[in-house]
This record gives sequence, structure tokens and C-alpha cells, in this order.
Amino acid sequence: MSVKNWFNESFPVDSEALIKISSEPIPNHLKRWWWGLGGTPLFMFIIQIITGMMLIFYYVPDPDRAYQSVDYITHTAKFGWLIRSIHRWASNIMIVALLLHMIRVFFTQTYRKPRELNWMFGVTLLLLTFMFGFTGYSLVYEQMSYWAMSVGTGIAGATPFIGGWIADFMRGGSEIGQNTLTRFFLFHIALIPLLTMIVIGLHIYLIRALGVSELKFPGDEKLKKKSYPLFPDHVFTELIIVTIIMIMLVTLSLLFPTGLGEPANPNVTPLHIKPEWYFYPVFRWLKITSLEVGVIGPMVFILILFSWPFIDRFFEKKIPGKEIAFWIGVAGFLTINIFLFWEIFGH
Ligand code: HEM
Repeated sequence: MSVKNWFNESFPVDSEALIKISSEPIPNHLKRWWWGLGGTPLFMFIIQIITGMMLIFYYVPDPDRAYQSVDYITHTAKFGWLIRSIHRWASNIMIVALLLHMIRVFFTQTYRKPRELNWMFGVTLLLLTFMFGFTGYSLVYEQMSYWAMSVGTGIAGATPFIGGWIADFMRGGSEIGQNTLTRFFLFHIALIPLLTMIVIGLHIYLIRALGVSELKFPGDEKLKKKSYPLFPDHVFTELIIVTIIMIMLVTLSLLFPTGLGEPANPNVTPLHIKPEWYFYPVFRWLKITSLEVGVIGPMVFILILFSWPFIDRFFEKKIPGKEIAFWIGVAGFLTINIFLFWEIFGH
């Protein structure tokens, strides 16, 4: 028996099903990156898993040794600095791509029936990605990450009714210490990745089951075909995007490698505590409000984001054709950007 026959017998594959899956028709607009941005965060997530596993070879989740282990990765381990920088840059690109993907879905209104649930899975993915960022930043155990952890758990503690419980659960007690780092490590490398994989699976299942909404552009009528095949055409388009992003990631990591601040010192509060840039709008909001209002604001915002397809449907029914959704979107986008730049340039 040839090796090929042996393999086919031991690992039978339904070739017809395979052809059916890989020839899924893709709408023409997804040939352009900015309309098909969903593939980019998926690729970044895969990069994060690979580089993250490499970092765990040396990372030690112990408050007395975490900082030294990151220092070792950055300055001694072969190519450690590159792996760490790619991990950090890919997280940033993932967030930018996610936000752009969400903006395109919002302004093309493709969250509308029957895709409401997929929008909600999307918002869940956005929140999970922010949690990746917050827990990952804390693991470094430098001054800034320690104090971001302290501020972050403090803010969570101000949640009405259940805040105390959430803060204790995050910290593993009343103080930041070994339990906190163990938990953040577990969240970062196991719980959040697992949840993200499940929700990405559901998101992509629904995209396949419901199909991608077809977007129409002027001149499209002239095109003979409305779609093109997933394999090889769309896979090749994605491969070109992957190559460009890889070049970008390595260039950014070479030009701006991730540095390391002072080691965490629980006794000295830094003059300016700064989270990662994607938390700036919330951070600025917290600075200008009381803690209670500060916590409720983002919660209301997330609730609105989750239920947006239904809020939009309500407006469309009450005041049809007035593009209320568009103007609310523009107002929300501008407000978030004002808060972002205020935090970048303000004190
Ligand atoms: C890890 C995160 C995510 C991944 C990997 C992902 C992946 C994808 C992919 C591959 C598509 C197909 C069309 C395209 O590429 O634009 C898509 C469509 C979609 N995504 Fe995402 N997405 C993510 C996060 C989000 C977020 C944050 C939202 C919104 C809050 C969202 C809402 C949607 C919706 C409603 C569709 C259907 C759009 C249509 O039919 O035109 N996704 N997503």
C-alpha cells in the first residue's frame, strides 16, 4: 500500500465538502482591504498567540521576578526584544484594525437584520481585545503597568453594587500582589484567548451562514460577476495583506522596539500615570467626572454599543430615512477622538 493510500484510508477527507467550503462566493467589495478589514484582526490574533507562547518560555509570573524576566527577554534572550516588540505592535495594529472594521460595519449599516447577533459578538471581541491589552500591560510589572493595574482595579471597584466583589476577584484579595499577577497571567494567556477563539468561531460561523452583506458602488453594474471565489482569489488577496502587515510589523519593531521602564514600586506613585493609548478616552473621562459617574459612563456606552442594531431599528421606525444612525455615529466618533487627543496633549 502506498503512503498516499494509507493516509487516505487512515484520514478520510470528504473532498466534495472541502471544495464546497473553499469555493464560497465572496462579494466583490471585499477585494479592497478597507472593506474587508475583518481578516486583519484575525491575523493579528494568530501572531499574538505565536509570539505570546514564545514569550512564556522566559516570562515568570511572580512579583519579585516578573520585571527581571521581561528584562532578560528584552536585553539577553536571542531575538527576545524582537518577539516582544512584535507582540506589542501586533496588539496595537489589532486594535486599530478592529476599530476600523467596526467603523466600516457601523457606517455601512451591515449590523442590520439578520446580523444583529453578529454585531454583538463583534462588540464582545472588541471588549476581549481591550482586556488582552490591560492584562498584558500589567504583566510587565514596571512602574507604569503596576499603577495602571492599581488604577484599573480601583475603577472596577467603583462599579455600583458589585464593585467590591469585582475588585477583590481581580486582585485575589484586597492588595495587589502575587495573587493578582497569577490571575492576570491566567486571564491573559488562557481565559481571554479561549473566550476570544470561541467568539471568533461564532462570528465567522455567522458570516458563513448569513453571508457577507453585498455593498454596491457606482460602476458595479458593469461587472459581469457579483462575486469571486474564496479559494484561490480571496486567499491570495489576504496573503498580500498578510505580507504587507508582516513588513509593517517588523519595520515598526526595528525602528521603535518596546522599551522597559522602572521596576514597579508600590510605595512611589508616579507623577503621571498613563494607560495604553486606547484607554485614553476613558481615562480623560474619568479625570473630568467623579468616580461614580466615571464608571457608569463607559458602562452605558458599552450597553448602547451592544444594543445598537435595536436602537437603530427603533429610530428607523419612528423617523424613517433621516439617517439618525449616521449622525449619532459621527457625534460618537468625534467625541471619542476629542477625549483621545485631549488626553494626548492635555495634562
Ligand atoms: C477579533 C475580532 C474580529 C474578527 C476576527 C472579525 C472578522 C470578521 C470578518 C472576516 C468579516 C467578514 C467581512 C469583513 O472582513 O469585513 C466580519 C464581518 C462582520 N463583523 Fe467582524 N470581526 C471582528 C470583530 C468585530 C467587531 C468589533 C464588530 C463590531 C462591533 C464586528 C462586526 C461584524 C459584522 C456585523 C459583520 C458582518 C458585516 C457584513 O455582513 O458586511 N466584528 N468580521
